[in-house]
Amino acid sequence: MKHQRASSTKNYAGPLSVPTSIPIHALHVRSPIRNIILKSTSFQSTHAVSQTVVSPYVASSYVSQEARQAVFRRAQEQVPEVDAALVSGQLPSWLRGSLLLNGCGDYRGMQHMFDGYACLTRIHLDGTTGRVTAGQRFLDSDAYRSFLNTGRMKYREFQTPVPADGPMGRAMVLLDTTLAWMSTGRAFTDNASVSLTPLPGNRLLALSEARTAAYIVDPTTLDTVRQVEYDDGLPGDLTTAHPKRAPDGSIINFTHSFPLGGVHVFRQDPISLARKQIAFIRDRNPVSPCWVHDMAITTSHLVVVEPPLFINMNSLVLGESTPFVFMDWNPEAGTRVHVIALDGSRVVTHTAPPLFTLHLVNAFERPCSSGTGTEICVDFSVYDDPEIINDLSLDRLKAFPGKDISPSRLRRLSIPLLYAAGRPVGPTSLAAPAPLLKDENAYGNFIEFPAINPRFCGKAYRYAYGTAAVRPTNLNNAFARHDLELGTSTLWHEPGALPAEPIFVPRPGGTSEDDGVLVATVTLADGQSAVVVLDGATLQERARVVLPFTVPYRFHGTFLADGRT
Ligand SMILES: [Fe+2]
Repeated sequence: MKHQRASSTKNYAGPLSVPTSIPIHALHVRSPIRNIILKSTSFQSTHAVSQTVVSPYVASSYVSQEARQAVFRRAQEQVPEVDAALVSGQLPSWLRGSLLLNGCGDYRGMQHMFDGYACLTRIHLDGTTGRVTAGQRFLDSDAYRSFLNTGRMKYREFQTPVPADGPMGRAMVLLDTTLAWMSTGRAFTDNASVSLTPLPGNRLLALSEARTAAYIVDPTTLDTVRQVEYDDGLPGDLTTAHPKRAPDGSIINFTHSFPLGGVHVFRQDPISLARKQIAFIRDRNPVSPCWVHDMAITTSHLVVVEPPLFINMNSLVLGESTPFVFMDWNPEAGTRVHVIALDGSRVVTHTAPPLFTLHLVNAFERPCSSGTGTEICVDFSVYDDPEIINDLSLDRLKAFPGKDISPSRLRRLSIPLLYAAGRPVGPTSLAAPAPLLKDENAYGNFIEFPAINPRFCGKAYRYAYGTAAVRPTNLNNAFARHDLELGTSTLWHEPGALPAEPIFVPRPGGTSEDDGVLVATVTLADGQSAVVVLDGATLQERARVVLPFTVPYRFHGTFLADGRT
C-alpha cells in the first residue's frame, strides 16, 4: 500500500472539494507529491482543484490510508540521530533549536489513540547551516518494559483494559489492582505518553494523567533519566498532562483524589519539583469524579473547566462498558467552572451550560465590556458532547473513509471576576461560550492542538493557531491561524496529509505577536514523515524537511531554543 502511489497509473480527475466559505486567498493548498498537479487557475475560478492523482486516497479531503497506517504503525527507534533532508524552502536563520514531541509509538493490542506506549521524537533545526537531524526513542516505563518482557499489558491504558479471561480473570485483575493501589499506590500506568514540559537544568518532564506517569527525560539524548516520585503526602492518583507556568516561574497543576475526594491544586517548584497544595475543590459526586484534561492560566488565576463527564469506577477498574470509554455523560449536571487565585486566597465555582472540551487556548483578565469591573476571558475548543473521545478509537481512525470528526468550535467564556469597587464576584450562572470568529465553517468547525505565541500566555492576545478540518474528514487535516480581532481564519491544507500539533516559535527580537513561525510534524499523503515551518503571519510554508524514519501520531511537545537551559 505504501508504494501504491508510485506504481499505479490510476488517473483521478475529480475535483477536491473545498468549503466555499473559506476565502480562496486564505487557503494554502500545496502538493509536494510529484504526481499531483494542482491546476491553480481552475482552483481560483471554481473553488476546486483538478488533480492527476495516482493514489486513490488523496482524491478527497480525507487523510490518506498511507498516512493513517504510518502514524499507528509500531515506531522505530532512531539512535543515534540521523540527518534529514530539507526538500523545499529555507529555514529562518534565527531558528535554532529542538522540536521535542511526545506521543504513543506502539499500539500492539490497543484500542484507542491514547493507549499506545510513549515514544519521544527530537528534531533539531539549525537555521544557520540548514542542517536538520532527528532521532526517536521509547520512554523506558515500567508499563512498556513489562509489555516487552512478557508480551502482556501490566496496567490498563486509557481504553484498553488488562486482558482477563472470564469472570475469574476479571476478579483477579480487580484483586491485583486493589492490592497494588493499597500497597504501593501504583495501580495506574506509568506510561507518560502525552506531553513534554521544559524544566530548568536541561530536563524535560514527560507526563500522562496518572500520578506515576511522570518521568524526567534528557532533551538531547531522549534518555529516560528517572521516574518522578512524590513523598509530600499530597493525595491523588490522577493529574493533568497540561501543567501551567505561573508568572513567577512555578508550575501549577492538580491531582485528583477519589473516591470521596476532589481536585488538589498545587504549586510546584520547577527545580526541586516540590509541591504545595494551594486550593481544594470537592467533587460534586463523591464516588464519580469528573474528567478534566486541560486548564488555562491568567497572570493571577487558574481556570478549570469541568464538563459533566463522570468517571465510572466500575468501568475504570473492571473494564465494564460505558458510553465514553470509562465515563458517563450527564449533561443535566451542567459544567462547573472553577476560578482559583494563584496565591490560594480564593476559589469561586461558577456553573455553565453543558459542554465538553479537551484543550484550552488561552485566558486573560480585562475590564468588563460593560465598563465596570473585571472579567476573565477563557478561549477554548468547545464540543457539544464527548463523542470526540469515541472518534479517536483506533477502529474509527483506521476505517476509510470513516465517520466525520465531531465538531469543535473556538469559543470564549466570559467570567466576571471583580466588581467595579474591587470586590470579588461570587458564584454565578455563566452564559454559554460565544463564537470568536465570524464564520466557524471557515475552519471546518474544528480546532484542536491550539497554540499561541508563548509570550502572550495569560495575557490579552490576538492570534490563535491550531489544527482544523477540511471536511469531510475523520481526523484534523489542516493547520489554522485565527485572527481574533478580525474574526477571520486562514488555513493550510495538503491533500491526504495529517498534521500534528503546531508549536509557535517567536522570532528573537520580534515586535508583533505573529512575528515567528509554526513548527510541526506532518505525515504526508504517501506516509512519509516531515517537518514544516509555516510563517506565523501568513501561514505560508517557508521550509519542509522530510525525515528518514516514520514519526507516529504525536500529541504534545515543546520547542527548546539552542542555549536555553
Ligand atoms: Fe492534551
